[in-house]
Amino acid sequence: DETVQAKIIERDEKGKVKGEFTGIRKNGERFPCEIASVLFHDIHGKQIGCSMIADISARRNAEQQLRNTLDEMQQLSQHLKDAREDERKFISREIHDEIGQLATAIQLQLYMLKLKSADLSEPCLEKINRSMELSDLMISSVRRIATSIRPIALDERNLNDALQWQCEQLQENHQINCRFTREFDDSKLSPEAKTEFFRICQESMTNVLRHAQASQVEVSIKEQGENIYLLIKDNGKGFDTNQKTTHLGLIGLRERAHSLKGELTLTTGLGQGTMIEVIVPNRWK
Ligand SMILES: Nc1ncnc2c1ncn2[C@@H]1O[C@H](COP(=O)(O)OP(=O)(O)O)[C@@H](O)[C@H]1O
Ligand SMILES: [Mg+2]
Repeated sequence: DETVQAKIIERDEKGKVKGEFTGIRKNGERFPCEIASVLFHDIHGKQIGCSMIADISARRNAEQQLRNTLDEMQQLSQHLKDAREDERKFISREIHDEIGQLATAIQLQLYMLKLKSADLSEPCLEKINRSMELSDLMISSVRRIATSIRPIALDERNLNDALQWQCEQLQENHQINCRFTREFDDSKLSPEAKTEFFRICQESMTNVLRHAQASQVEVSIKEQGENIYLLIKDNGKGFDTNQKTTHLGLIGLRERAHSLKGELTLTTGLGQGTMIEVIVPNRWK
């Protein structure tokens, strides 16, 4: 291997060298080696070279196995996420269409009953009115549950509008001031990437609601150079990241960022609010 020659020359110049090269076994098989070599002088001033060469095939194999396992785990996790999204889509549609339709039908029946029966007693009429109110409630909770499982925004809108919708929900339902900045052309984003960005934002907002006691949230998505940046920042109480938790929310966030070949940075501290920044290469467009 020529690299050995080069390494020897390098050692003579610098006094020491470390490197890897390919060795050949007696049977002609090639294998990876590691070399570490130093020059030093003995007490008589004579220059001595000392080299260590190790067969690192076992280590290489283990590394490759580890990489394979990691790849498999990532694929499996992607598959699980896709399956879960599909299932959510199915369940939310079933609840919305089936139960929603039935509740509407009941309401219609009650309405007809009320219209057509002129001789209903007062208590009877009261019961019908109450039943109509209840079925009204049922229709709105069916809608609410179906949307919380799989927001329609995710299927029917582009990412910018879906994120905007999410911010409006936060503002309307929880009186938290939420500002959304969009500087990103999302027209070519793949549906998978759209779901990942949306779910990252959703989990971050759920955390704000659950833990932060914030009065303000900033969400922004922008594209700069080679990257897409998603930012969710609150002015809440923050938390100590050294306190290890086994909660899956933050782990899931990071994992979603990785599945888009991106990185997630969490900046927080007690009393300092929380900022989540996701940087993803823009080839998902
Ligand atoms: N925006 C936030 N503000 C304050 N604390 C937070 C925020 N996000 C996360 N945390 C803290 O980090 C912990 C872990 O979050 P997470 O992994 O999402 O789990 P979970 O929400 O199920 O508790 C939370 O229990 C909370 O203490
Ligand atoms: Mg959480």
